[in-house]
Amino acid sequence: MGRYTHPHTRQWATTVAAYDGYVLVTPEYNRSFPGVLKNALDRVYAGWNNKAVGLVPYGFDGGVRAVEALRPVLGALQLADVSAAVTLNLRTEFADFGATFTPGDHQGPTLPTILDQLL
Ligand SMILES: Cc1cc2nc3c(=O)[nH]c(=O)nc-3n(C[C@H](O)[C@H](O)[C@H](O)COP(=O)(O)O)c2cc1C
Repeated sequence: MGRYTHPHTRQWATTVAAYDGYVLVTPEYNRSFPGVLKNALDRVYAGWNNKAVGLVPYGFDGGVRAVEALRPVLGALQLADVSAAVTLNLRTEFADFGATFTPGDHQGPTLPTILDQLL
């Protein structure tokens, strides 16, 4: 683990270090992933190294641009990203401004695929 000054950074580093793999859920903002996620990724380094990550983006187009912007960052952290992603579309799979979520039939096999690849 790195040498971190702030207690909140040490706490985050301990949380990250505790896992061998991750599933990141992210919205898409202005064709990318949000700055808070970038900050969470950037704050620690060693804890991410040589682990695996699956991606679940959401947005008006399934959040696909957010994950494509995210993949090079994951590479820099030596986090192996799973190719498949559960892309959740705000136009077709959410209603009432996000209060209701009904996944499409095509989503059924995708999550197990991601989890298998993650393992
Ligand atoms: C400033 C802003 C920019 C956005 N840009 C995009 C975008 O580029 N592509 C997209 O698919 N959705 C975009 N959205 C829609 C968000 O993905 C959507 O509102 C989502 O529910 C935000 O997730 P959150 O409420 O969990 O943060 C944008 C929303 C806002 C407010």
